[in-house]
Amino acid sequence: MSGGIRKTQRLDKILAHLGRGSRSDIRRMAKQGIITVNGSITKDSGLHVDPYADLIEVDGERIQYRQFIYLMMHKPPGVISATEDKREPTVLDLLSIDDAAFEPFPVGRLDKDTEGLLLLTNDGKLAHELLSPRKHVPKIYEAIVAGDVVPQDIELFATGVTLDDGYVALPGELVVVRKETQDSNILSYISLTIHEGKFHQVKRMFEAVGKQVVYLKRVQMGELMLDPELEIGTYRELTDEELSLLGKNI
Ligand code: URA
Repeated sequence: MSGGIRKTQRLDKILAHLGRGSRSDIRRMAKQGIITVNGSITKDSGLHVDPYADLIEVDGERIQYRQFIYLMMHKPPGVISATEDKREPTVLDLLSIDDAAFEPFPVGRLDKDTEGLLLLTNDGKLAHELLSPRKHVPKIYEAIVAGDVVPQDIELFATGVTLDDGYVALPGELVVVRKETQDSNILSYISLTIHEGKFHQVKRMFEAVGKQVVYLKRVQMGELMLDPELEIGTYRELTDEELSLLGKNI
């Protein structure tokens, strides 16, 4: 916890933030006499306490408070990177109740059919720093492109390709990893580093050179790399090392 003036908060708010139930659940628990603050039972779930300084216990278990959560998800295709959607499942549906209680949100968007690295946090300041267009945080994608990606495409991407709405994309680094021929159609396996995050950017960059992205995966954002061990559709908390890569000192 960094320095600064510590504030007290309602006990029910603190415990709800940590996924210990709804405010009414916590009121019930307090009435049952299972919540103690600095060793004394409190039946008042609205009591103001300092979550960092006061010793809070529920059923004898010490509560470790923290404000922020930082999650690395290996987003699967078929889910929306938003906090809610009327029709489709969202990445928040993949979280446990305890983690969802922190109310994290995805840092930037991946298309429904895109997979790969997605950071979720409730730290608005960090999200803003990573997404700020002025910061040009690099993002690395791996893609399969229908068509033959040629040196001329690499040059165009390096100088700035013009998208369908006339916007000239910032220079991107395109690398052709390998090519495959399927039923006499060429597929190009590429890696692309971009320094901005316009809507459907990678797909639109390839459309601008007459080619279609058929598979897209984000593998890196800033210095943060997708953990190759992280199964698709799963997530975990960032390690302290990963947090420091994002400029966050815990
Ligand atoms: N570019 C795209 O076209 N789609 C994504 O999901 C991410 C980058």
